[in-house]
Amino acid sequence: MKQLKFKNGDLMPAIGLGTWKSKPGEVGEAVKTAIANGYRHIDCAAIYGNEAEIGQALADLFKAGVVKREELWITSKLWNDSHQSDYVLPALKKTLSDLQLDYLDLYLIHWPVAFKHGVQPSSAADFLSLEEVPIIETWTKLEEALELGLTKHIGVSNFSVLKLSDLLQKAKVKPEVNQVELHPFLQQNDLLQFARENDILLTGYSPLGSGDRAAATKKADEPSLLTHEVIAQIAEAKKCTTAQVLIAWQVQRGTAVIPKSTNAERIVQNLESVQCILTDEEVAKINALDRHYRYVDAKFFAVPGNTYGNVYDE
Ligand code: A2P
Repeated sequence: MKQLKFKNGDLMPAIGLGTWKSKPGEVGEAVKTAIANGYRHIDCAAIYGNEAEIGQALADLFKAGVVKREELWITSKLWNDSHQSDYVLPALKKTLSDLQLDYLDLYLIHWPVAFKHGVQPSSAADFLSLEEVPIIETWTKLEEALELGLTKHIGVSNFSVLKLSDLLQKAKVKPEVNQVELHPFLQQNDLLQFARENDILLTGYSPLGSGDRAAATKKADEPSLLTHEVIAQIAEAKKCTTAQVLIAWQVQRGTAVIPKSTNAERIVQNLESVQCILTDEEVAKINALDRHYRYVDAKFFAVPGNTYGNVYDE
């Protein structure tokens, strides 16, 4: 399994199991199936509402001797309602308690968006602007979490080049990861280039197009990655599936990737994409599909009167 190297030598497996949208009652079994079949990287977040079930699955796996804590890479993310300095460490501790872990491998600021504490926003008054709660206020607490040993690495998610540049100038400890939407329709070459120049690793979410998102957040005319004819032709030629081509493309590009599945066969299939090695010609065909198309357009944060109409700065 290809791994991505951090400055201190730590290694993050390039393919992880995504758990966004994995339902309670299913996610624990998915984690067990994944780890039993060789996954060593699980991507979590408090807002996914399933960390307690994942924690129980991990505890069962450790107890049964299937895997040791130190063999796993566990990522989680700080939710938007806990950006203010008093709330960051309690939120991280709640995640650790739910996951039944003493430390995370990686803790990320989930979005450059702040809500009032404990609020699921319904109007502009429920948000806090980045002037009111600057990212550096939140980041300083992540740096403290690192010092306390609650996490081994810290990073961000959904950050633009602009926001990363700003954070790099102010941070004592530089962010090591930016987790963003990545796939052939949204290759983000500028962001990747900037990340490489600044020793930041990218992890790609929604690598398969996240077809299981809530209907309210989907557009009627969304293009399909899993059935795209160029991807399908390459899959046929290689005797693998379109999902495997999409995952292999990211691994070969040097980013981490976290396909979500709760189906045992597809969980195994997705890890086996390491056997699908794309030729330069195939990679070039996939690279030509870029169209800067976002499935997760972040418009759900844009409420009349708030400051979050352009989260991605584009
Ligand atoms: P399921 O969980 O039933 O396998 P993304 O990772 O981009 O968020 O996409 C997740 C969606 O893709 C889910 O609907 C998931 O369904 C589906 N999926 C995951 N792996 C595969 C695969 N190998 N082939 C087809 N669909 C897949």
